[in-house]
This record gives sequence, C-alpha cells and structure tokens, in this order.
Amino acid sequence: PRRFYHPNVIDHYERPRNVGLLDKKSSSVGTGLVGAPACGDVMQLQVDVDENGRIRDAKFKTFGCGSAIASSSLATEWIIGKSLDEAAAIKNSDIAKELCLPPVKLHCSMLAEEAIKKALSDYEKKQAALKAASA
Ligand code: FES
Repeated sequence: PRRFYHPNVIDHYERPRNVGLLDKKSSSVGTGLVGAPACGDVMQLQVDVDENGRIRDAKFKTFGCGSAIASSSLATEWIIGKSLDEAAAIKNSDIAKELCLPPVKLHCSMLAEEAIKKALSDYEKKQAALKAASA
C-alpha cells in the first residue's frame, strides 16, 4: 500500500535544503551525528556560527527515510539566522507538526532535534577549548 505523506514532507524530500558538509575542523563549525537504533537511520547536522553567536550556515546529510530527510532539511532552514539559544529551543514536536508526521514517524523528527543539540554542544565545546587554550 502507498503510504500517505503530507505535501510538506514530499517537498523537503524531493528538494532538500542545505544538503552537504561543512569543514568539521573549523572552530566555528559544530557537528552533530545521531542515529536511530530502531531503524538504523543516521543523520549528520552541522552549524557554522559567526562572531556574534548566530548560525550563519547549516548543512545536513541524512541516510534515512523520507521523514528523516525532510526533518533535517526543515531543521537546517529553521536554524540558519538563529542564535544558539533559539536553535536549541527547537522541539521535535514543532518539526513533526510542520511536516504533519504520523506517530510512527515521530522518532524521525526526534533525530533532527538531537542532531541540532549535538551540533550546538560540539560547537560550544570547541569554543570552550579555544578559550581555555588562550587563557
Ligand atoms: Fe527511522 Fe525515519 S524511520 S528515522
């Protein structure tokens, strides 16, 4: 049987925004890599943060289902231009709502929330290490 997907999912799945990689080694880049044990899908999301603490760019690579790809695509769109705190406040339920994900697909949006949080904490760790090194 053909699964029903909301047009918002199909749009992000067919024309994913911000697919790609940022330089992992750059001190302004944070990388979050997460996996869903249930289905084995993997998502990498990266942020590039400017001097004022704003996310100036974000990229993702997702090896997973259509909902995971759509969730990460939407997540990158939402976080570009945001402060770290604003990005950290994005909830998987917001993503699921925007994409009208059915209950069995909620964990796909969960991946996106986790990937954002991991990318932000990776960036913060790098900054803390830099500060410690220059202190
Ligand atoms: Fe597992 Fe979508 S089915 S991430």
